[in-house]
Amino acid sequence: MPQTKSLYTQELSDMREKMSTVKNIVVIGAGLMGAGIAQVSIQSGYSVTLVDIKQEYIDKGIKSILKGLGRLEQKGKLGEGVTAQSLVDKIRQTTELADAVKDADIVIEAVIENLKIKQSVFKTCDENAPSHCILATNTSSMSITNITEVTKHPERCVGVHFFNPVPLMSLVEVIKGDKTSEETMNIAKEWVANLPCRVPRYVPFVLKDRPGFIANRMIAPGFVLMNWAFDEAASKGISYEALNADTMKPGSPMGFLELGDYVGHDTYLHINEYYAKTLSPDFTPGLAYKKLVADGKYGRKSGQGFFDWTQGRPKLNADVKAGILSAELLDAIEANEGCRLLEEGVVEHWEVIDNTMKAGFNRPGVMQDAVEHYEKWSQMLEDIAAKIGKEYLKPCEMLSSGKFRDLK
Ligand code: CAA
Ligand code: NAD
Repeated sequence: MPQTKSLYTQELSDMREKMSTVKNIVVIGAGLMGAGIAQVSIQSGYSVTLVDIKQEYIDKGIKSILKGLGRLEQKGKLGEGVTAQSLVDKIRQTTELADAVKDADIVIEAVIENLKIKQSVFKTCDENAPSHCILATNTSSMSITNITEVTKHPERCVGVHFFNPVPLMSLVEVIKGDKTSEETMNIAKEWVANLPCRVPRYVPFVLKDRPGFIANRMIAPGFVLMNWAFDEAASKGISYEALNADTMKPGSPMGFLELGDYVGHDTYLHINEYYAKTLSPDFTPGLAYKKLVADGKYGRKSGQGFFDWTQGRPKLNADVKAGILSAELLDAIEANEGCRLLEEGVVEHWEVIDNTMKAGFNRPGVMQDAVEHYEKWSQMLEDIAAKIGKEYLKPCEMLSSGKFRDLK
């Protein structure tokens, strides 16, 4: 499957016909992501059902959808006579999963990042949804093949990875599990490509089912460095604000720590434990990070993470730096991972990586800069790997040789 804008390699007319019958979307999990996906789906005119395990979680999700739609209503962007409340009133709410999926055309789960829970959700959906229904997972990191191996029809299962906040971030990665059919990929793409966003959606196909897919995998090994830095900061009395400032660079909307707060450290912990099992033990979360999560400091969603969110987005000083690492070092680490993605065949061209990073994180990708700096960056990676004893940070052959430049 090529990764350009016109991605369809099969008969478009067949797929369009099926797509035109997609009416009912079921979103499972009414948290940060589920609420965002339900919001953009109801804005698009789909019939939407929102499922969670308790009504109070659904209520919380509905409240956040109302707030998001309210912002659009204030700007007159919902259309003539349409209000935030009128849209929210159309969302069906339930805690009965088996019943919710009975008439579904597309189901997407956004429950917590836990393999067993996701598998149990997929099993229930597979047993109760109609045979034409597509079953999608919004997992951040885990294998689509593993999550969906509990189903009888893995060909209709697919990864559909939205970015947070869903109404504002244009990236949606569509990820192929080992048995996902091409038709499923195309229908999933067609669905998400038309969901509203402030800029047009960018929907790359992820060609291999590897941990973290494209965008999250790019930022993954930054955590290997930051994990060391969190413990260093804790032992030396360095403030998290100064450490966050070390990671900031012009054009970045958020530093590494603030972004972690924004995503949720409970989620990030699961993700990094998964990378520790699948990519390298170097991802094993350290003491300071585990303590943050054990103390319930999940970030924005709990009101406190590295920073205090109880009064809204924290105002962080980017000028006073800790000076124990640099944004350029994080760029080098990211470029190295981009080269690994090319080596593994997850993407075919580094331009796709840069486009994906822009759409997913609102900042330029690093591969373009790597073309100029790969030799210096490879040396920086050798130095940091030796300094903190993390083999994973060593430059891969694709980066150190500069061969990635041929795969634009
Ligand atoms: N629906 C519709 N519109 C909304 C909205 C919603 N839910 N929420 C906000 N808006 C609108 C606002 O009304 C505002 O509109 P105007 O420009 O017309 O005033 C606009 O969107 C911007 O809103 P804010 O002022 O609240 O936002 P901001 O300018 O402070 O930017 C941000 C916030 C977009 C989050 C920005 O800081 C950013 O891009 N941060 C990086 C986010 C990021 O990297 N996300 C990826 C996380 S990783 C991930 O998702 C993958 C994973 O698997 C973990
Ligand atoms: P969240 O903690 O905000 O929400 C998860 C919701 O799932 C909760 O409301 C919980 O009650 C519900 N839930 C748990 N088990 C359930 C079950 N069996 N049935 C129905 N609902 C259940 O989490 P989130 O941040 O929205 O993340 C959800 C998924 O999306 C995870 O897989 C995560 O990795 C992924 N993701 C997260 C982000 C992010 O920035 N937070 C971005 C992209 C993808």
